[in-house]
Amino acid sequence: MCGIVGYIGSKRAQDILLSGLKRLEYRGYDSAGICILEDQDIKVIKSKGNLDVLVTKVDQQTIGTQGIGHTRWATHGKPSDENSHPHMSTNGKFCLVHNGIIENYNELKADLKEKGFIFLSETDSEVVANLFEALDDGNLLTTARKVTAQLEGSYALCVLNKENTDEFLVVRKDSPLVVGVGEGENFIASDIPAILEYTKKIYILDDDEMALIKRDAVEIYDKSGDRITKKLREITWTLESAEKQGYEHFMLKEINEQPEAIRKTLAGRIKNDMVDLGLNMEEEYVKAINKIAIVACGTANYAGRVAAHLIEDKLRIPVLVSYASEFRYNNPIIDEKTLTIVISQSGETADTLAGLREAKSRGAKIVAVTNVVESSVAREADYVIYTHAGPEIAVASTKAYSTQIAALYLLLMELGQIRGSLEDETIKLWVKEMLAIPEKIQTILGNCELFKGFAENIKDSSSLFFIGRGVDSVSCLEGALKLKEISYIHAEAYPAGELKHGTLALITDNVPVIAVATNGLMLDKIISNIEEVKTRGAITYGVAFEDEQKIKEEVDYFIPIPRVVDAIAPLLAVVPLQLLAYYTSVVKGNDVDKPRNLAKSVTVE
Ligand code: G6P
Repeated sequence: MCGIVGYIGSKRAQDILLSGLKRLEYRGYDSAGICILEDQDIKVIKSKGNLDVLVTKVDQQTIGTQGIGHTRWATHGKPSDENSHPHMSTNGKFCLVHNGIIENYNELKADLKEKGFIFLSETDSEVVANLFEALDDGNLLTTARKVTAQLEGSYALCVLNKENTDEFLVVRKDSPLVVGVGEGENFIASDIPAILEYTKKIYILDDDEMALIKRDAVEIYDKSGDRITKKLREITWTLESAEKQGYEHFMLKEINEQPEAIRKTLAGRIKNDMVDLGLNMEEEYVKAINKIAIVACGTANYAGRVAAHLIEDKLRIPVLVSYASEFRYNNPIIDEKTLTIVISQSGETADTLAGLREAKSRGAKIVAVTNVVESSVAREADYVIYTHAGPEIAVASTKAYSTQIAALYLLLMELGQIRGSLEDETIKLWVKEMLAIPEKIQTILGNCELFKGFAENIKDSSSLFFIGRGVDSVSCLEGALKLKEISYIHAEAYPAGELKHGTLALITDNVPVIAVATNGLMLDKIISNIEEVKTRGAITYGVAFEDEQKIKEEVDYFIPIPRVVDAIAPLLAVVPLQLLAYYTSVVKGNDVDKPRNLAKSVTVE
């Protein structure tokens, strides 16, 4: 994910910026850059690739004491020298770095181009640099206020004005930014680890706050332009815990990032309550699709299975979901009317890539759902939907899964819109419900104490069962996978009605059975299945909507989730299962982020 560092003081800025960016490397990036203000001259050095490449380009003679730096994780525009930050305005007066996504950048760019502004990159961020120039009134603060009034989306911005060697400006909305306070020097960063080496005194900026950063002062302003006083915090974290933003593990951090990650997946893709992914698929082609193939591995495969349920149910298109490792050897029935959806967090999984090529060779068009811009899968697909989840570091995938599901829901709504198989009213309802998902996930996250207790209950079990009906049985697959991966407890996911055909023999006294029950139509059925296991001595847990009284009364332990339309319930149902797996791994003392035998990205067959 993108990282920002800024410095103003008396030391050589470039050394501080480079060391700060180095501290952010763990977050993942594909290009980097710095700009230094020296004698009213702005020097920009930027480069695709890692910081070592950038270091070979910097001029060791540069001694400027004010500058900003950035590591980019591509969202708009491929990784390249031109798309790297910092970006300059056309006349070279303003230079900035940006984290976040400007949703209305296309409109703004068209308008600025008409006025004669020049663009050198494909990024949304360069639009903001030119907007500063377009709205420049000679005062950085008031100009910034005019600029941000025009921006839709999320941003953490750090802006240098070439004519002002005594200060720079920062502003944020929905993207983090902190100010570090030193003696005769001050720092800014998107993440505390970048500057922890230099200061432990930090202001955490809130949304819509702006600050002027000077050598010996930090002036903070609220949205209406009034100067405010904020609490200066003393950071007591170590560098390692700061990288995890205070969370004990990356996995927990990533579970907690899901509300924000889903917001980013949806950002800019909903217009007038309808979906616009900007894929530009031809209507004639979309209407001719007679089959969908979904190809993916692991967690991504399960995200595909969730979508498959809804596609078949609502779009009435047959869906074949395959494990990528099997797909190409199964002589798949694929032709030019088969839309193939390839899902991969990394975009580099060897089996998935091979599946993509197999489908392509049979004439199918490919939609890639991936988290990594310009990854192999993204490059080889006909259409790409980026999940914008930010880098996922823990091996066990969490925010990638929920953002993949969110992206797939958007795709199915768009297909339904084009094919006329979904009513506008249905789409509008789902869109509304999707927009409320982040807040609802937050509610579940607020309940995490519950899972510590459950983890204690199940930690010594030799086997667990997850049961559900319909799409809930897919959430069960993901819940069981999470538990196996990191707690090393054997777990099986079963369509609840199938248990009686063999597996029920394994349900004996004290075997934990976790039922996922969000499917309103199948509620009585799953209750009967819970009864079946209870009478065999199982200890039962039920994940269901908070007002689902019957489930609450049926199970030994009730795990409530906020109510949402059944169609998109998997986005919520998975969160308790992630937390259960996480805390069980913790109580067992396992290496949560790096489970044995597993790798984050599997680039061999
Ligand atoms: C590995 C990871 C899993 C992931 C799978 C697919 O096995 O450990 O968490 O689901 O690969 O990865 P991808 O990057 O293609 O989504």
